[in-house]
Amino acid sequence: MEVTVIGTGRMGSALVKRLASQGFTVYAWNRTREKLRDLPAKPIEDVSQARGLVFIFVADDEALNAVRGVGGDVVSLAGTYSVGAVAAFSIRLSSMGIGFLASPVVGGPGDVERGTAIYIVGGPESTYQRVKDVFERLGTIIRLPTAESAMALKLAYNALLIGSMALLGEYVILSRTYGVDDETSKELLRRTVFKDVAEKYLDRILNPRGPPSFTLTLAAKDVHYAVKSAGDARTPLVVSSAVKSLYELLSTLGFGNEDYVRAGLLELVGGLREK
Ligand SMILES: NC(=O)c1ccc[n+]([C@@H]2O[C@H](COP(=O)([O-])OP(=O)(O)OC[C@H]3O[C@@H](n4cnc5c(N)ncnc54)[C@H](OP(=O)(O)O)[C@@H]3O)[C@@H](O)[C@H]2O)c1
Repeated sequence: MEVTVIGTGRMGSALVKRLASQGFTVYAWNRTREKLRDLPAKPIEDVSQARGLVFIFVADDEALNAVRGVGGDVVSLAGTYSVGAVAAFSIRLSSMGIGFLASPVVGGPGDVERGTAIYIVGGPESTYQRVKDVFERLGTIIRLPTAESAMALKLAYNALLIGSMALLGEYVILSRTYGVDDETSKELLRRTVFKDVAEKYLDRILNPRGPPSFTLTLAAKDVHYAVKSAGDARTPLVVSSAVKSLYELLSTLGFGNEDYVRAGLLELVGGLREK
C-alpha cells in the first residue's frame, strides 16, 4: 500500500523511516524542503499529490490549518492537536470524500522508528479496516470509535506525563534545598510506585545529553490543548492549568527548545525565584 507523510520533523521523519523499513512505498511532503533530502521517501511538490494512507505530522493546530487540499484515500492525524481542530479538519475532509482517522502517538521518535510506539487510533471501523495492515506494522494500537476521543485520550496522557515531569523537577528542588543529595532522592523513588518514572526520567532531568526529542514549546502546546479541549466541554482542569502556565512562561522566557522534562528544575525555575 502507498503511504504519505506530511510534515517530516522529528516524528514525521522517524515515521517515514519506519514505513520504509516495513516495505511500504512512502511519499513525503515538508514545508522546508531540505528536510526531505536524506529520507527514504519520494518527495511530493504539493499536499494534493498525497497518496494512499496519509499521515499528517505537522506541529500544531495552526500548522494543521495550513494543510489545505490534501489528497489520498484515508487521512490520519498523527500529531497532537486540540479536539476542536480535529473536528474542524474532519468537516473539511468530509466534503472531499476522503476517509478520516486520528492516530496520535505515545512515544518519541526513537519508539516510532523501532516500532515500539503506541498509536491511539480513533475513527469508524470501516475506515480503519482499509488501512489496518499499515498500522499493524507500526507498533501497538489502541482503538477508539472517534477521532475526537482518540485525541482527547492523547491529550489527557500528555497532561499527566508533562505535569509529572514538572513535579519531578520540584521534588529534586525541595530535596536539594534542605541538603538531600540527588542519589538519596533517587533511592527513595526507586523503592516506591514511582520506580519506573525515576528510572526512565530522573537521569534525563539531572544530566541532559544531546538535543531534546520533545521540546518544552511542544509540551506547552499539548497542555494548552488539553486545558482548552476540556474547557470547550465545560470541564475545567485546575492542575493542568497551572502546569500550562509554567510551560508557557518558560517558553516565553526563551527556554522553548529545552527538553520538556526539565521544566521544574533549578536552573530554569530557580533562576526566576531568585529575582
Ligand atoms: N517529539 C515527540 O516526542 C512527539 C511525541 C508524540 C507526539 N508529538 C507530536 O507530533 C507533532 C510533531 O512533533 P515533532 O517533534 O516532529 O515536531 P518538529 O520536529 O518541530 O516538526 C514539526 C513539523 O511541523 C511542520 N510545520 C510547523 N509549522 C508548519 C506550518 N505552518 N505549515 C506546515 N508545516 C509546519 C514543520 O515543518 P518545517 O520543517 O518546515 O518547520 C515540521 O515538519 C507535534 O504535534 C507533537 O506534539 C511529538
